[in-house]
Amino acid sequence: MRQSSVDLKSSGRSIGFVPTMGALHGGHVSLINEAKKCNDAAVLSIFVNPTQFAPGEDYNSYPRDIERDKITASDTGVDILFLPSADEMYPEGFKTFVNVEGITESLCGRFRPRHFKGVATVVLKLFNIVMPDRAYFGEKDYQQLLVVKKMVKDLNLDIEIKGMPTIREWDGLAMSSRNGYLNRKERISAVSLSTALKTSQEMVKNDERRAEKIIGEMEKVINNEDAAKIDYISICDPDTLKDIEIIDNRALAALAVRIGKTRLIDNCILEVK
Ligand code: PAF
Repeated sequence: MRQSSVDLKSSGRSIGFVPTMGALHGGHVSLINEAKKCNDAAVLSIFVNPTQFAPGEDYNSYPRDIERDKITASDTGVDILFLPSADEMYPEGFKTFVNVEGITESLCGRFRPRHFKGVATVVLKLFNIVMPDRAYFGEKDYQQLLVVKKMVKDLNLDIEIKGMPTIREWDGLAMSSRNGYLNRKERISAVSLSTALKTSQEMVKNDERRAEKIIGEMEKVINNEDAAKIDYISICDPDTLKDIEIIDNRALAALAVRIGKTRLIDNCILEVK
C-alpha cells in the first residue's frame, strides 16, 4: 500500500482516502464518489478494527462481506482497495495509542470509554500508510469526525478532512452497517431516531430554544417504541460537544439508542435563523 502511494505521489497525483470497516452501503458510496471527484486516485480501506470495540461489543459479529464489498469497490471505481489484517495492523508487542482528550469524553465516549482511542489510533496508522491528501468521513459519526479533525490539527498532519452528509433510507433511517442487525419490527422502530431529530428541528423552527424541553419531546418519540432504549440524547455545542441549555445560534442534536441489541446513532444540526 505504501509503495503504491509513493508511486502515485511521485507522479504528482493526489490521493483521496475512505477508511471503512466494510459492509459497504450508500453512505460509503457517497464518500468514495467524493474522493474520486476531487482526487486523482481513490483509496478505500476495509478493516474491522479490534481496538475500537470493548469486550462484549460486536467485534466478532460485525457484518463482514468482503466479496460484495469488492464488487461495490470496483463498481464505484475505487483505484486501490486496502485490506490489512489484524496481525499486520497490530503485531505482537503493539503498545502505542492515540488519545484525543476532551471531545471524546461526552456523548458516545461516556458509553464506550475506549472507543475513540481505538479509532484515532487506527486512523493515524492508516493515514501514515496511505498518505492521503484528503480523507472522507460521514457526518453520521459526528463525534468521530471531530476527533479525527482534532487529531489531524494537534499532530500537524498535512491531510484535509472532509465530512460528508449522512445518507438516509427512504424513511429517514441513517444508513449504517449495523442496520443489517435489525429484524423487521426493529427496523420500523429504528426510524424513531430520525423522527426524534426532525422533532427537534421543528421545535427550533417554532422558536423553542430550551434544550431540556426539546430533549423531553425527543425522549417521548423514542420511548414510544417498545424495543428502544436511550443511551443518550444531547443538545450540545457542535465544536466542543459540551451540553448547552439555551440554543442561541447553532447546536448539535445527537442521540444513541439501542433498538433491541443494536446500538444506533444519529444527529443533526439545529440552527436558529
Ligand atoms: O467509521 C468507521 O467505519 C471506523 O470507525 C473507521 C473510521 C474506519 C476506523 O476504524
